[in-house]
Amino acid sequence: MSYFITGGRKTEIQEILSDLESLKSEPNYREAVALNIEFFKAIRYPISYFWWAIFRAPRIRRNRAKIVELGDLPLPRWQWAILKTLSEFEAGVPAMLLPIRQRIVAELGRLKETQKGPIVVSSLGCGGMELERQVMYELVRTRFNLPVVFVGVDYSPIVPDIVTSKFNSLLSKGLVQVRTLSHLGADDLRSLKLQVTSHMFSVVLLSTNAFELKDLPGNSFNLVYHTRLKHHLTCEEGRELDEMATHLAPKVIEFDDLFSIRTFVLASIFAWRFPAGLGGQIFSYLRSLSKKESMYRQSKDWRVDIIYTKPIWSYLRIYDRAEVRG
Ligand SMILES: C[S@@+](CC[C@H](N)C(=O)[O-])C[C@H]1O[C@@H](n2cnc3c(N)ncnc32)[C@H](O)[C@@H]1O
Repeated sequence: MSYFITGGRKTEIQEILSDLESLKSEPNYREAVALNIEFFKAIRYPISYFWWAIFRAPRIRRNRAKIVELGDLPLPRWQWAILKTLSEFEAGVPAMLLPIRQRIVAELGRLKETQKGPIVVSSLGCGGMELERQVMYELVRTRFNLPVVFVGVDYSPIVPDIVTSKFNSLLSKGLVQVRTLSHLGADDLRSLKLQVTSHMFSVVLLSTNAFELKDLPGNSFNLVYHTRLKHHLTCEEGRELDEMATHLAPKVIEFDDLFSIRTFVLASIFAWRFPAGLGGQIFSYLRSLSKKESMYRQSKDWRVDIIYTKPIWSYLRIYDRAEVRG
């Protein structure tokens, strides 16, 4: 199937609206479809979007548990467009990943001092794996000398396509190998660690729901992290994710955007040309925590750092078992 969008902005909006119309009869998606149709009609013109942003967006944010983004609907073509746009923004706007990239590189450096075999990390809801690409380049630059296995987990059917094209350049240099699995059990993980070849990096793409990892033994990974995933989950799923991640690794890093009017305006301007991507970014911001709310996620086990990397507000939430045990 081809996901490419060949027409201009107007054509893309029309095609999104007609795909949304085709989902209207499905009772599970009725509310989500109505919300998205309203948004994509509004972004046809700056003036109607301005009206939507002033009068509708604040109301939608107040009721944000009900938001379902275009990318969360069963429309692979638009999931592809949204993840691709996000991935391209993350590649082009360094601030979008810098805070978590620095933490991961620092953590890998620390692990290198104590670890004998390969380091195995897992990225939950990994999307297009732009973060991993940037981490690899940083590791190559600093002459990191221990193999790293990145286990990316994402249930979206379009992720393998995006990830394979993302690593083309590293693949051609023989620095990375990429494989896709549909299941990862304790035995598979053990053999993965043994099979690390001459490649510096291995990407194992697991096409499944992240919660399926919960049956793996404790400490299966050296590090678990997730970026821009939490706002897609309900509160209950968020708690389950924390529980599972802290079982799977001694260190967990969560990264997500924080809501700010400034970023909302900037995203509206810079993503205007990409309707599906604009929908993804704007609804994501509307679902994001405010600075104050992110501090409520701090506890005796989790530390929260609010970060401003021009022009983006984000937060890092970190669990470190060594610190928890004192
Ligand atoms: C906004 S994207 C973020 C992608 C990537 N982490 C990034 O920062 O660019 C969220 C991703 O999480 C995935 N996702 C959401 N819920 C998931 C779940 N329960 N299991 C696996 N993947 C999930 C979606 O398919 C999507 O690719």
